[in-house]
Amino acid sequence: MGSLADSLEELARIGAAEDGGVTRTAWTPELFAAYDWVAGRMRAVGLAVEVDPAGNLVGRWEAGEGKAVAVGSHLDTVPTGGRLDGALGVLAGVHAVAHLREQGFEPARPVWVIAFMDEEGPRFGASFFGSRAFSGDDLGSYLGRCDAAGTTVAEAMRERGFDSAHTGAAARIDEVSAYIELHIEQGPVLEAQGRAIGVVTSIVGLRGYRARLRGQANHAGTTPMAMRRDAFVGAARVALELRDFALSRPDVTANVGRVIVSPGASNVVPGLVEFTIDTRSVDPETVRELERLVPDVAGRIAREEGLELELEVTSSVEPLQLDQGLQRLIEDAASTEGASTLRLPSGAGHDGLILGRHVPAAMIFVPSRGGISHSPDEYSTPEQIELGMRVLAGTIARVSRT
Ligand code: HGY
Ligand code: MN
Ligand code: MN
Repeated sequence: MGSLADSLEELARIGAAEDGGVTRTAWTPELFAAYDWVAGRMRAVGLAVEVDPAGNLVGRWEAGEGKAVAVGSHLDTVPTGGRLDGALGVLAGVHAVAHLREQGFEPARPVWVIAFMDEEGPRFGASFFGSRAFSGDDLGSYLGRCDAAGTTVAEAMRERGFDSAHTGAAARIDEVSAYIELHIEQGPVLEAQGRAIGVVTSIVGLRGYRARLRGQANHAGTTPMAMRRDAFVGAARVALELRDFALSRPDVTANVGRVIVSPGASNVVPGLVEFTIDTRSVDPETVRELERLVPDVAGRIAREEGLELELEVTSSVEPLQLDQGLQRLIEDAASTEGASTLRLPSGAGHDGLILGRHVPAAMIFVPSRGGISHSPDEYSTPEQIELGMRVLAGTIARVSRT
């Protein structure tokens, strides 16, 4: 099987970007090339493999009886993302099955290894697509969303041979008893505290938006400053005001990650700006507060700048407390490995946020060097990765013993 670190290096060649990062966007040939490669690894350890109607890659260890223990993550990435975000959880699941088989472990129930489709969402603003379909959520509002080229989710699915009318058939959460995800921390805490394994207590809630501010394109030199309806200035003010609010609150993050300025010429006052807003908190009350804050701030600034505002909610997920019993099992598995642990919340969203509404869910973190993620500089050592996999294997064994 080789080492997990080697598998991750090999997988990272699929969708490799110039800057050393990886780009595997939802419903693209690169992502399905990664599926094919991982499916080969799944079959090599005896998993029965299929891609479900929502584009989730599922490998099944058909053992025992009853509801399956599901592990996994995602193989899609952000643009020029890292080699570990998502891929670690999927490949560690495959290596954990190999590890357990080598030890002669026989689970009392099936074990599924799943790569969920479009966890990240940058192409269509339809994050957690696969885990939502797997959980039986209604995906109607997602299918019509477009990418920058105007292709809808449904068209992108069709291009890959999927009929979007059949995504409902991917809903198999009722066949699952628990979900465990191994992931990089994507933050600085474990490294700073010198802990080997993170036991995640909760996952942040998110409110994501696509905003459009419309002003008036005009001459950059002749239009008096006081007479401009400058859409970019409006967007910049929104970004700065949300940033200042988040700086004032330890329980809040706010991010404007993508800005498209039109017409985009140096000598034209921007008439139209489209941008994304990502706000988060692990506190449900604070998420409510953000839900009010974003439209208030954007609406007020639009009025003050003489702009028209369109604000579309693209993601709305509540924060989730993870299962305490599973957290204890992870700690037990880590102590068997002699690994130090730390309980901590996740500021990143994960597929566990969706599945965890239906079944007990848990997450295991390994440290991220410098806390960096969503970047080619994303890195964890081979030892940290292998330890994470062994703790995942130990947790699977504990959860699937009966
Ligand atoms: O955005 C997130 O937190 C995750 O990487 N999808
Ligand atoms: Mn990510
Ligand atoms: Mn991820």
